[in-house]
Amino acid sequence: MKVAVIGTGYVGLTTGVALAQIGHDVVCIDVDERKIASLRQGKAPFFEPFLADALDANRSRLYYTTSIKEGLVHGDVAFLAVGTPQNPNGSANLTYLHQAFASALSVLEKKASSTLLVNKCTAPVGTTESLSQEIAARGLSDQINLASNPEFLRQGCALSDNLYPNRLVLGGNAPAHETLLRLYAPIINQTFHLPAHLPRPQGLQQVPAFLVNTRTAELAKYAANAFLAMKISFINEVANMADLVEADVIQVADIIGADVRIGRAFLNAGIGYGGSCFPKDTLALRHMADTHGYHFKLLSAVIEVNNAQCIRVVEKLRDALGELRGKTIAVLGLTFKPGTDDLREAPSIPMIYHLLLEGANIRAHDPVAGDQARFVLPHKVKLCAEVQDTLEGADAVFIVTEWPLYQKLTPEVLKEKMRGNVVVDGRNCLDPRLFAGQMRYIGVGRGLKPEPEVPLSAQMVV
Ligand code: UDX
Repeated sequence: MKVAVIGTGYVGLTTGVALAQIGHDVVCIDVDERKIASLRQGKAPFFEPFLADALDANRSRLYYTTSIKEGLVHGDVAFLAVGTPQNPNGSANLTYLHQAFASALSVLEKKASSTLLVNKCTAPVGTTESLSQEIAARGLSDQINLASNPEFLRQGCALSDNLYPNRLVLGGNAPAHETLLRLYAPIINQTFHLPAHLPRPQGLQQVPAFLVNTRTAELAKYAANAFLAMKISFINEVANMADLVEADVIQVADIIGADVRIGRAFLNAGIGYGGSCFPKDTLALRHMADTHGYHFKLLSAVIEVNNAQCIRVVEKLRDALGELRGKTIAVLGLTFKPGTDDLREAPSIPMIYHLLLEGANIRAHDPVAGDQARFVLPHKVKLCAEVQDTLEGADAVFIVTEWPLYQKLTPEVLKEKMRGNVVVDGRNCLDPRLFAGQMRYIGVGRGLKPEPEVPLSAQMVV
């Protein structure tokens, strides 16, 4: 099929590439000329594993343009994949969506054949319906049909999440369902040519597709993100309890996660969730509930727990050092999770501001986002190119993002450069046993004892 995607941001571009991978001809449209120019040269505009390879492998089916007119003429299906950032009151800002929709309409109303316009953006329940009403009011319903098809992509896994999703959510009327089922048939039946480096997960033969109305599709997207955020805040509260009662949260997570009704995923305690989705979407869902006169109490608690979590871990560091004023802290990891260069809503940022407020000196490192961090962190934070340099003279090291290179750190390596002996593992990614008798290891929910003797996971004791 011929597909157009408006927006070459994270969602738009990875969706476009995946659709090309399953055999469709895809035009990627963006107003940003520099982005389109670099894509035409085969360069990925952001860091995402396998994206550069996939752009190259599918170059015969991928086209790029800044002209919405040129792009939309091409499509049987056109995706709206622009950002819906957060307004100051927590609601979703739909400015880009409305702009893209208006531009699309001005082209599609003159097009001879009909088009299915698909909203991929995370937008409040009712958004797609109100855009449909606009189409109807302009007498264009025969030419343009509208659907909602939310995505569940994780940064760092976007291509495999696109090609091997847990489910597809197809929101719209019967003709929209029929077109989307045809578009996604190679994914639903897993019949496309497998990309190099991205093996299909074992046992995946068919992907379920949920045929629903647009309102259900829109709410499902928010509910999925809010539920995952809830799992994280829940386990972080259990971790805070585990600290108080000297229990081990990793083992608790293994035990409760072994119950298939709960599941082990998203039960890793730490300094809280960040990124471009969970913080924004939980606030937007709460705002949406408020506008309907409903107080979503559980969601408010999820948000509150997350906001407090990184400060709580800083307090543990303060307790270990006595006070933070004048102390040098080596912060390892700035991105909101490993495998991405994204600093949006990264817990590292409020955490560093908090440490500075308490008078600490900060040396920081990130393997991919070091340069960008200069734009979001104050000048007094010393950004270092090497881990070893970051550790120089530090009273404590604080692991904020569990990048693999930090997981290899040993007491010997740390002590070579550090002045102090405190290790705060904000992601529970180190083995506390390695530090026993050598350094003071502080995890999240790993008991209060300075020398824990716990095994790494509950399964190891079986
Ligand atoms: C998330 C959803 O997973 C995805 O389905 C949705 O489309 C977009 O939002 P992403 O933001 O890329 O994806 O990251 P994810 O891997 O979900 O992690 C989000 C945050 O939660 C990270 O800061 C991560 O460190 C944190 N997290 C995750 C935990 O603290 N503990 C966990 O157990 C899992």
